Amino acid sequence: MKILSIETSCDETAISILEAQGEMVSPVFKVLANNLNSQIEIHKEFGGVYPNLARREHAKNLPIILEKSLKDAEMFLNDAEKINEEKIRTILEREPEMAEDLLKIVSNIKKPEIDYIAVTTGPGLEPALWVGITFAKALAEAWNLPIVPVNHMEGHILSVLLDAKENKTLDVSKFNFPILSLLISGGHTQLVLMKDWMNYEILGETVDDAVGEAFDKVARILGLPYPGGPEISHLAEGGKENEKIKLPRPMMNTNDYNFSFSGLKTAVLYLVKDLGDLSEQDKKDIAREFETAAGDVFVKKIKKAIEEFGVGQLIVAGGVAANQTLRARFEKELGVEIFLPNKDLATDNSLMIGIAGYFGAISGKEKAPEDIRALSSWSVSSAC
Ligand code: KG4
Ligand code: ZN
Repeated sequence: MKILSIETSCDETAISILEAQGEMVSPVFKVLANNLNSQIEIHKEFGGVYPNLARREHAKNLPIILEKSLKDAEMFLNDAEKINEEKIRTILEREPEMAEDLLKIVSNIKKPEIDYIAVTTGPGLEPALWVGITFAKALAEAWNLPIVPVNHMEGHILSVLLDAKENKTLDVSKFNFPILSLLISGGHTQLVLMKDWMNYEILGETVDDAVGEAFDKVARILGLPYPGGPEISHLAEGGKENEKIKLPRPMMNTNDYNFSFSGLKTAVLYLVKDLGDLSEQDKKDIAREFETAAGDVFVKKIKKAIEEFGVGQLIVAGGVAANQTLRARFEKELGVEIFLPNKDLATDNSLMIGIAGYFGAISGKEKAPEDIRALSSWSVSSAC
């Protein structure tokens, strides 16, 4: 089965074409195309992501990376195809320019050998999600294909199944449920218990900011550009233990699996005010202490869950999973087998949406276009 997957939930526009076969317990994936256009440079100026700006950029980029993906997969075969142009314009009436760009492509090529379209329908920024969804609906109309809606967080969890660099699928026969999953990104911080394939329970989540958001805000306080995660992580490498620089470990000892990162960010703000003029070394020490504080909280809560649920395996996914220090600490301190995505599959991408889309397709999760809409706060526990 060949799946074209679309991801536009935040600030990355991404399209992949994935060939997939096998049951959920023994899938085999092959990447035929994988293209991503990051808006980081555009949002950098504003220090964060603006939903309507993201929407406009997605609309501009989707047809471009669709064409590139079809070419990469050798599915861009010139041939006039009869399509219902009016209907496509109606579907994309809020994005007239995207409609014209898309029509230029689909009316001039042969219908590609694709079986399903998978699209992220939530959680994420509502205007951004809608662009991807309407694009998926227009493609489904042009090529008469079924659509599978995909939960972005489930995509993150399943991102560990594919080693995109080697084009190899993880041997999932070693999966031993329940598996714990820590999802750490710019929008989410969740500890999820994966009880079986496509069966998730959220054990806890952040009560305020996501951890990636805290990385981004702390970076801003220290005068570093967006996204802050890689910047803080780089800075922290040169940091040292410093008597003057101590931060709290919010909610570390609460008897639940929830997190809080807003107070940690505020503590950095006060610390910076108290210190006055910051030396370069102070900044490095703050970055290190911040990373250590976040890591301490994660290690403590994960250990608690490992014990309570008798878990032997942990998936860590989401943009913050790219953090080398956190990765190393989890490996060293938790005593369980850890599955991490390739670095480029840790941040938002469409391959993970293709994987979740494949599982959705083989378990009958396709939906009629009129029933597909943006679900900005769709929880992974009700995804399946
Ligand atoms: O998963 P993702 O690409 O987008 C969301 O769904 O949010 O995650 C983006 C987040 C940003 O907050 C970014 O600062 C953070 O992941 N991030 C990192 C690192 N690389 C990206 N945080 C810490 N260390 C990193 N190396
Ligand atoms: Zn994400």
